[in-house]
Amino acid sequence: MASSPQFRRSPELRAANPVLSGNPLKLGVFGSNWIGLCMTKLPGGLTPTWEASREIGRMADQAGFEAIIPVSRWKSIVPGQPRHRSAQALETFTWATAMALSTQRAAVFATCHVAAFPPVLAAKQAATLDQISGGRFGLNVVAGWNAREPGMFGATMLFEHEQRYGQAAEWMEIVQRAWTSEEEFDFDGDWYTIGGAYTAPKPAQAPYPVVMNAGLSDYGRDFAARYSDMAFVAIQGEDPAATAPELVASYRAHAREKYDRELAVWTHAYVIHEDTVELAQATADEMYEHADLEFVDAFMAGTLATSNVLTEEVLQVIRREFVLGSCGFPLVGSAETIADGLELLARAGVDGVVLTWLDYAAGIRRFQAEVLPLLEERGLRVPVDAPDGRLVASSR
Ligand SMILES: Cc1cc2nc3c(=O)[nH]c(=O)nc-3n(C[C@H](O)[C@H](O)[C@H](O)COP(=O)(O)O)c2cc1C
Repeated sequence: MASSPQFRRSPELRAANPVLSGNPLKLGVFGSNWIGLCMTKLPGGLTPTWEASREIGRMADQAGFEAIIPVSRWKSIVPGQPRHRSAQALETFTWATAMALSTQRAAVFATCHVAAFPPVLAAKQAATLDQISGGRFGLNVVAGWNAREPGMFGATMLFEHEQRYGQAAEWMEIVQRAWTSEEEFDFDGDWYTIGGAYTAPKPAQAPYPVVMNAGLSDYGRDFAARYSDMAFVAIQGEDPAATAPELVASYRAHAREKYDRELAVWTHAYVIHEDTVELAQATADEMYEHADLEFVDAFMAGTLATSNVLTEEVLQVIRREFVLGSCGFPLVGSAETIADGLELLARAGVDGVVLTWLDYAAGIRRFQAEVLPLLEERGLRVPVDAPDGRLVASSR
C-alpha cells in the first residue's frame, strides 16, 4: 500500500542548509526588511517596501549568497518621533515566508525577539517556515536592545543580563522541546509556565532548524555556545581588524570547552564600493556629513542602556561606524580592498559575513561583478554555477 505523503523531516536537510555547507567564506545580506543599516540622510538608501526587499533577496540568491537575514524592529528608534522612518520594518516571520518563496537556494532567517513571541508560537512559526522553505530556514534569536519595544507586548525590558538571558534560555529550551517532542509536555520555570505543549508538523531540518544568536556580552556568548549553530557577532572598536581573530577564537573555544559544541561565527559588514579607496573614503565622508543625528544618538543610547560591554567613550569613537553601517565591519574601498577585508575576516576564522549597503541593489550588482570573482580567485568561494547548482563543500 502506498504510504501517504508526509511533511519533510531529515538530518540531511539540515546538513544541506547553505549556511552549514558550502563555501569557506559564506555571504549574506542583512537588514533589507528595514530601511537598511545606514543612518544617513543622503539619498539612495533603501526604500522600505516588500518589492525592494524581494529584489534584494533575489539578487543575493542568484549571486550565490548563503543567507538572507532580517533585523527585528518594532517601532521607531527615535523617542518622541513615532513616524520616524526607522519605524518602517517588515515583521520577520511573515517576511521570511515570502522571501523563501521568492528565492531558491539561500537560507532565509527570521530574527525573533524573545520578549515578543510566546515560545511555542515561535516554534510553530519556525517549523511552518522550515516546511515551506524545504529546510532553508534559520532562526536568529535576539534578546533585544531597544528598551522602548517590549512594552508594546506587555513585557518589560530586562536590563540585567542574568535575567534577560535566563528568560532567553528557558524560551529556547521550550522551543527545542516543541520542535522535537512527540508527546505533549509541561514546563515550569522562573519565566514560563506552560501546560500540554505540542506542535506539528515538526521542522523539516532534524532535529531542528539552524539557530543563530546575536549578542555581545559574556551572557550572550554563553547563550550562543549552548544553543546556537552560529554566533552573530559585531567586530567593532577602534581597530576591528586587529580584534577579529581573538574574538572569533574566544567564541569557538567557549563552545568547545564548556558545551563540547562546534559554533560557527558570523559577522556583519558595510560596503562602500568605488573605483578607488580615495573615492570610497570620500563617499563615506559624505554619508557621515549627512548623518541623521537624532537617529544615531537614539540608536547609541539604546545600545548603551542594554549593553554591559560598550561604554560612552567607546561609542563616541565608533559613532561614525554607526552612521555608515550600524557598526558593521568596514569594507570601504575598491573591489580589491573589499576582497582584502573579507579575506582578512576569513583568515581570522569568520565563517560568514552578512553585508549591507546604502543602495543594496546597486551594491550587490557591483559586488557580484567585481568582488565575487576576486573571492573565487582567492579560494574563498566557488562560482555559483558549480556542479548541480549547489555550493561545494567547505575546505575548513
Ligand atoms: C550582529 C547583531 C545583530 C543584532 N540584531 C538585532 C535585532 O535585529 N534586533 C534587536 O532588537 N537586537 C539586535 N541585536 C542586539 C542583541 O539582541 C543584543 O541584545 C545586543 O547585542 C546586546 O548584547 P547582550 O544582550 O549580549 O548584552 C543584534 C546584535 C548584534 C551583535
